[in-house]
Amino acid sequence: MRTLAVINHKGGAGKTTTSVNLAAAIGETGARVLLIDLDPQGSASDWLGAHDASRGMFDVFVGSAELASLAQRTIVPNVDVVPASQWLVTAERTLLGDLAAAFVRAIDRLPANWDVVMADCPPSIAFLSVAALAAFREVLIPVETHAIALPGVASLVREMDQVRTSLNPTLEQPRILAGRVNRTVHSRLILAELRQTYGELVLESTIRDSVRLAEAAGLRLPITLSAHDSKVANDFRSVATEILTGVAPVELPPAATAEPSSGWRRFLSRTPATR
Ligand SMILES: Nc1ncnc2c1ncn2[C@@H]1O[C@H](COP(=O)(O)OP(=O)(O)OP(=O)(O)O)[C@@H](O)[C@H]1O
Ligand SMILES: [Mg+2]
Repeated sequence: MRTLAVINHKGGAGKTTTSVNLAAAIGETGARVLLIDLDPQGSASDWLGAHDASRGMFDVFVGSAELASLAQRTIVPNVDVVPASQWLVTAERTLLGDLAAAFVRAIDRLPANWDVVMADCPPSIAFLSVAALAAFREVLIPVETHAIALPGVASLVREMDQVRTSLNPTLEQPRILAGRVNRTVHSRLILAELRQTYGELVLESTIRDSVRLAEAAGLRLPITLSAHDSKVANDFRSVATEILTGVAPVELPPAATAEPSSGWRRFLSRTPATR
C-alpha cells in the first residue's frame, strides 16, 4: 500500500484539485484509491459528493473508530473517500501533538483494501499537516507556476527534513507538481526555476491552466469524468503514470482500463522497502 500526502501550506496552491483528479486518474488504471480529506474545509469531500455529519476522524484519533469504517464509496471508479468533518478542528485544538501518533496508528491499522492511500491536507503548518507527514511515506507538493509560490516550497521542504529526523525516517523526498502552467513567459520561467532548484524532485508531467477544472468541481465530478478526453484530464493521467511507475509517459496510456496493467500491478504489490 502506497501512501501519498498532497501538501502545501500555501492556500489555493491546487492541493484539492490535485488530490481529487489524481485520485480519479489513478483509479482509472484499476488501482484502488482511498482519499482521506484532512482539511476541515472539506473541499475534496464536497467535490466527491461525500459528507460526514458525525465526529468522523475525531473518533479515529481518539481510538474509538477504525479509519476504514469511515471510507465511503464515490461514483468515481475505484475511488473511496474518508470525508472531512468539523470535528477535525476540535481534534487539532485538543489533541495537538498526539494527533500525529494517532494518525500513524490509524494508517498502520488500515486493511489492504486499497493500493494507494492519499490525503488532501489543509493550508496551514499545523498538527493535521504534521500528522500526514508523520504517517505517510510519499509527498506531492502542487505548486502554482507563479513567483509568489516559490518561498512556500522551500519552507515545506525544510519542514519535511525536520519531520524525517524527528518523527518519520521513512518519509521520502517530496515530488513537486507544477500546476496552472500556461504559455506566459512568467509561467515558463517559474517552471524552469523549479526544475533548476529542485531537479528530479519536479515531475516531468505538469498540469495546465484550465477553467475546466473549476467546472468539474461545480459538477461534483473529477475531470476524468466531466471532460474525459480533455487535455487537462490527460495531464492528470500523465501524473498518475509518473507517480505509479516513476516514469512520465511518452505516449499517454489508454484512457480507461478495467484492470491495472501488469507493470503497475507488480509495482503496487511491491513492499515499500523495495520501492
Ligand atoms: N490547473 C488549474 N487551472 C485552473 N484553475 C486551477 C487549477 N488548479 C487549481 N485551480 C483553481 O485554483 C483554486 C484553488 O485550487 P484548490 O482548491 O485545488 O487549492 P487548495 O490548495 O486545495 O486550496 P486550499 O489551500 O484552500 O485548500 C480553485 O479555484 C481551483 O479551481
Ligand atoms: Mg484544498
